Amino acid sequence: MPPLTTPPTAAASPTTRTHPGDETRVSDPIAFPIPVTREMEIGPTGRPLPDFPEPQPVAEHGRARVVAMCNQKGGVGKTTTTINLGASLAEYGRKVLLVDFDPQGSLSVGLGLNPHEMDYTIYNLLMQRDVDFDEVVVPSGVPGMDLLPSNIDLSAAEVQLVHEVAREQTLQRVLAPALDRYDVILIDCQPSLGLLTVNALTAADGVLIPLECEYFALRGVALLKTTIDKVQERLNPKLEVDGVLGTMFDGRTLHSREVMERLVQAWGDKVFHTVIRRTVKFSDSTVAGEPITTYASSSAGADSYRQLAREVLARWLDG
Ligand SMILES: Nc1ncnc2c1ncn2[C@@H]1O[C@H](COP(=O)(O)OP(=O)(O)OP(=O)(O)O)[C@@H](O)[C@H]1O
Ligand SMILES: [Mg+2]
Repeated sequence: MPPLTTPPTAAASPTTRTHPGDETRVSDPIAFPIPVTREMEIGPTGRPLPDFPEPQPVAEHGRARVVAMCNQKGGVGKTTTTINLGASLAEYGRKVLLVDFDPQGSLSVGLGLNPHEMDYTIYNLLMQRDVDFDEVVVPSGVPGMDLLPSNIDLSAAEVQLVHEVAREQTLQRVLAPALDRYDVILIDCQPSLGLLTVNALTAADGVLIPLECEYFALRGVALLKTTIDKVQERLNPKLEVDGVLGTMFDGRTLHSREVMERLVQAWGDKVFHTVIRRTVKFSDSTVAGEPITTYASSSAGADSYRQLAREVLARWLDG
């Protein structure tokens, strides 16, 4: 990858610009027409920031969209995004299922579960035909959001699944009964491109790729894209990239802004307008075992994930 030597463009700074032609006239039946100048705010990705509409309530639940949170690089915000995007979607009235698909079990721990006190985990659901979905699913503590928990047992599945027939479709099979009950299913993948991740991609409609806004973030993304393309071609034709999310963004540094600029060059419109800024509130909320949307409900971090929820819902509606 060539070094990031380009200076930030004017567009990359979070300022406000007025675009020619944005003057609109609002007709008022009583007063004279008032000229209004619509200011286009430039977002942290260097593009004009659209307004994402408040999601409409859903009349009935079901026909879940399944989304895999995927990046083989560790510590980029997959689990944090799964918890907080899920909690924000639940706040907007969606029925959400989170799937902890990482033997580290961080998603389960981040929602306050004790890894040693689980009767059943996703491992049992994958490997034992006599265990069914309702025996494994637990409430997450957030109204409208459930969880399929995991712990270290899941690491054995990676080895055992190799010998199974249709080994790549195992997660898809166990999630089938959940599709009619939830609006969104978010799968928190482990930091690898092994068989568990291939299972997640095979079960998914979309992939959401969290990327840390730092210099080496783009390394390895080509390999992830190749894996996604292969799964799409061989196992799951409906699979698409839902979006790329910049995380741990620090707008004060040239560095973060340059990485964001490179991300937009590489992925274009796939890059979410929403970015998640770096704040210690995320680790604090993990220790507290709850999403930032309840732990620090009015914090900037919570608001970013609510904005992401509005942005993904708007994208899925368009798609
Ligand atoms: N926007 C943020 N600002 C600051 N810290 C963050 C942010 N997002 C996540 N973190 C912290 O960074 C660490 C890694 O985040 P997280 O566990 O979500 O990444 P991950 O991609 O799931 O990691 P792994 O690959 O190990 O599963 C955690 O301690 C988390 O609290
Ligand atoms: Mg994780």
